Amino acid sequence: MADGTFYVTTPIYYVNAEPHIGHAYSTIMADVLARHHRQRGEDVWYLTGTDEHGDKVARSAAALGRTPREHADALSARFRALGERLEATNDFFIRTTDAGHVAVVQALVERMRAAGDIYKGSYGGWYCTACEAFYAEDDLGEGKTCPIHGTPVEWLEEENWFFRLSAYREPLLALYAERPDFITPSHRLNEARRSVEVSLEDLSISRSQIDWGVPVPWDPDQVVYVWVDALINYYSALTYARPGEDLASRYWPADVHVMAKDILRFHGVIWPAMLMSAGIEVPRRLAVHGYVLKGGERMSKTTGNVVDPNPFIERYGIDALRYYLAREIRFGEDGTFTAEGFEARYSRELANELGNLLNRVTSMVERYRDGAVPADPGGDGELAGAVEGTVATVVAHVDALDLTRALEEAWGLVRRLNQLVEERAPWTLAKDPQRARELDQTLYSLAEGLRAVAILLWPVMPGSCERIMTALGQDPAEVALAAAAWGAGRAGARVAPADQLFPRVEEEAA
Ligand code: MSP
Repeated sequence: MADGTFYVTTPIYYVNAEPHIGHAYSTIMADVLARHHRQRGEDVWYLTGTDEHGDKVARSAAALGRTPREHADALSARFRALGERLEATNDFFIRTTDAGHVAVVQALVERMRAAGDIYKGSYGGWYCTACEAFYAEDDLGEGKTCPIHGTPVEWLEEENWFFRLSAYREPLLALYAERPDFITPSHRLNEARRSVEVSLEDLSISRSQIDWGVPVPWDPDQVVYVWVDALINYYSALTYARPGEDLASRYWPADVHVMAKDILRFHGVIWPAMLMSAGIEVPRRLAVHGYVLKGGERMSKTTGNVVDPNPFIERYGIDALRYYLAREIRFGEDGTFTAEGFEARYSRELANELGNLLNRVTSMVERYRDGAVPADPGGDGELAGAVEGTVATVVAHVDALDLTRALEEAWGLVRRLNQLVEERAPWTLAKDPQRARELDQTLYSLAEGLRAVAILLWPVMPGSCERIMTALGQDPAEVALAAAAWGAGRAGARVAPADQLFPRVEEEAA
């Protein structure tokens, strides 16, 4: 970030089942970060994709009578299509079955081996295929079940290659001590630290009874453990996404890895240790968010409570979904998805507060000033100050990865502008020719304030904010954060009132 580049990632999603709102959430939030940093003029790289190897995927393919590759092709395409629908601006879509990725996985485990960190051993333990992870007996739920999925675990025992993770206890503790913002929110850093302090056993990093994976280069009878394979995506993508371009030296280390708390240990403990072993810099920060809950439980295929985002996008538009998720689910905490909550925020906030504000501003400019936004008579210093203060606060919250707070701050400006309409009552001013200057000031301030709002909300609702800009007679491409400065708008703009930003949605047929 300090060097003017910003590299952000989502987890790569398993291709065992259709994407749902939980996956959409991570992709949207990472996109908000990517867009915000582009607004700051940074050189941004945003990566998402699919995690395609391993037993979980092989089993779901077999259940459908498909080969793992057919299954991965079909579902990877579904995740890619969802990303497009979400208007995610990822610069590349990685698949762990890409030849470019496979080669880097092999090279990286070779480097770990050359560092003396890999040895052969045998291991037996309780394995959850949904997590693709072993659990200690003490961590299991009742009746030997997975603590995350509640489904039965299986005893797995075989000869494997091991990574000397235990050797990284001190380096990891030093990392957490030196970089308190390595994992946010901070209680997640404490969680990672505690898990290292309590026990850090060596990690089995290969499987012998599976063939859907990356062959271990020095022992092709085994495949690389799917999590080791998957984590490497964040680095491997940079080596082949743009043939001939050295993206690794440009963007590595990643600035932010976005993920839910279920995979904190993989990213906060195993991944940095792997990188240290291979002699590669560790990422700068992990943004750990909570779960999208449905009916009180984490939305997941295994729980069986998944919600398809598509009907919501069709009904309310993509920006409404992006807004609802970013606002309702406090970034870093769990939050509940409900159709009623969605509808309520849509009509109360998007339609009534923001949509109406735009309508009122453009129609008053039309009615009282023939559609031309007046020049600034220069009397609204307080509002100008509030706008600039809000920009600074939003930036600070985004830098602290408090994305919901950032959105709330920007929304505060929407409320303030609505208040201004009520306080100044332009319809009263318009009746008195003596007060023409006051009316000019009010109309200018509302248009200028709304332009700043559109810039601040753009990372969350890009399409709608571009429409606001157009309606205000501004260039919809002028969404750089610097352009939010008071007075930076195009002078002499003519409003171009459009259809409702957030039209009323008909009651769903029962
Ligand atoms: N393939 C691994 C990740 C490898 S990353 C090197 C994996 N895949 S997953 O398909 O299960 O997706 C997990 C991620 O999807 C979560 O960490 C989270 O980012 C997102 N989510 C999936 N369900 C979610 C919720 N119900 N709520 C919030 N995020 C959710 O784990």
